Amino acid sequence: MAAALTVRDVEVHFHTRRGVYKALNGVDLTLRSGEVLGIAGESGCGKTTLGLTVMGLLARNAAVPNGEVVVDNIELLGLLTSYALEAGENFDPRKNDRILRRTNKALAALRGVKLSMVFQEPMTSLNPVLQIGFQVAESIYFHNPALLASRALARTRATPADLREMVQLLRQAPGEEDAIAAYAKEHGLAGMAEQVLFVWRRGDIHTAKKEKMILSLGGEELSIIPRKVLETIERTGDIPLVYRRAPIVSKVVRRILFKEGYRKAEELLTTLGIPRPERVVRMYPHELSGGMRQRVVIAIALANNPGVVILDEPTSAVDVTVQAQILEMIKKIREEVRSSFVFISHDLSVLAQVCDRIAIMYAGKIVEIGPTSAVLNEPLHPYTQMLISAVPTLEGKEVAGIVGEIPDMRAIPTGCAFHPRCPHVMEKCKLKVPPDISQGADQVVACYLYGDA
Ligand SMILES: Nc1ncnc2c1ncn2[C@@H]1O[C@H](COP(=O)(O)OP(=O)(O)O)[C@@H](O)[C@H]1O
Ligand code: SF4
Ligand SMILES: [Mg+2]
Repeated sequence: MAAALTVRDVEVHFHTRRGVYKALNGVDLTLRSGEVLGIAGESGCGKTTLGLTVMGLLARNAAVPNGEVVVDNIELLGLLTSYALEAGENFDPRKNDRILRRTNKALAALRGVKLSMVFQEPMTSLNPVLQIGFQVAESIYFHNPALLASRALARTRATPADLREMVQLLRQAPGEEDAIAAYAKEHGLAGMAEQVLFVWRRGDIHTAKKEKMILSLGGEELSIIPRKVLETIERTGDIPLVYRRAPIVSKVVRRILFKEGYRKAEELLTTLGIPRPERVVRMYPHELSGGMRQRVVIAIALANNPGVVILDEPTSAVDVTVQAQILEMIKKIREEVRSSFVFISHDLSVLAQVCDRIAIMYAGKIVEIGPTSAVLNEPLHPYTQMLISAVPTLEGKEVAGIVGEIPDMRAIPTGCAFHPRCPHVMEKCKLKVPPDISQGADQVVACYLYGDA
């Protein structure tokens, strides 16, 4: 299966006055196309650091002495690893900062469009003084203005005959959504496909109403100058400098694109189960409940249909009922958007509900990975077994606490980092890091109980 994201042997060391914290110690991971991959582990094991490394959003004191992250055949860490290797002991956060900025620039074209992340604290990632719709629109305006231009243009170009044809296609084969995209592309209406499909997928109205709405999507009028501007943006994929710099033109362009962005925001919010989106887009973050805010943050992450979405503890800040709604929403949207997801959580019972595979992380390494049912029902690594026995169940079985504490990341135990807490520890465990060992169809574990190589 194709890989959406490959992480190879990544190491991240945070240099601080109190010592070097080795947050990631050789992480290997492949996110398969279309899957939801869970990452679990106690607090402090490096889950967030892994997400931030992939996004190129590390703090300036983070050295990356080794590793590769590949998205879309592009390797993202090269500059950082070469600096960390060259600097060695003399690592200087200020110099690293310059390299991070260069990496940032190179990544700007990927971020939001190919890769996006929902951060651990949803309350802090929204701007309190901007409307919800504005914040969604802004993300599309910066990363993918051509999408907005082509959506607006498609509504002016679509003839009644085009729209009737699309309705006909949907009637014949409701599941054949590729046919709509192909038709739209062929007839110069690329931006129409997602608008038509959005109406078609709505669950709150009956088919006759949907058909009527689709037929009314065309025939919009646009005066000559804005049309020319939009056509240029659609063709070049970017907003040309002349439009950005000339005050009047840039105002007109912004207004049209943001208006379209609000429209797209309404669509996204509806997909994420938010009722009355036309009101919500005009609200400010403080007017929304925690669950709604979390959905808005996810909407922003999904706004540009990125290939890879990293969700960092998306349900930790909300109560259980909202958590259930958000999990339901993620299950639903994964069918509709063609993204692959990394779902980070310290809570295995949350991952069990949405993930295809689960990876277990300990002290900055993946110690076990496999299909969700295998990892949860037949956990191989002693640490996974310990985590699972600590999950409370409704049957009221006795919950075994987790023994010991996570190691000090400045002095990670030699050999298998888990050895001081492991009930099965052997002499060799203390000496050498255990290799990854394949078990069963699709499970990998790093533990000497399953062999030496
Ligand atoms: N900027 C930083 N400077 C120093 N140490 C950091 C920094 N960011 C994270 N760490 C350390 O890295 C380790 C992993 O943290 P994190 O990735 O946030 O874990 P998790 O998300 O699994 O709880 C922790 O020991 C944390 O203290
Ligand atoms: S390698 Fe040894 S110490 Fe590590 S988990 Fe396996 S048995 Fe325990
Ligand atoms: Mg975290």
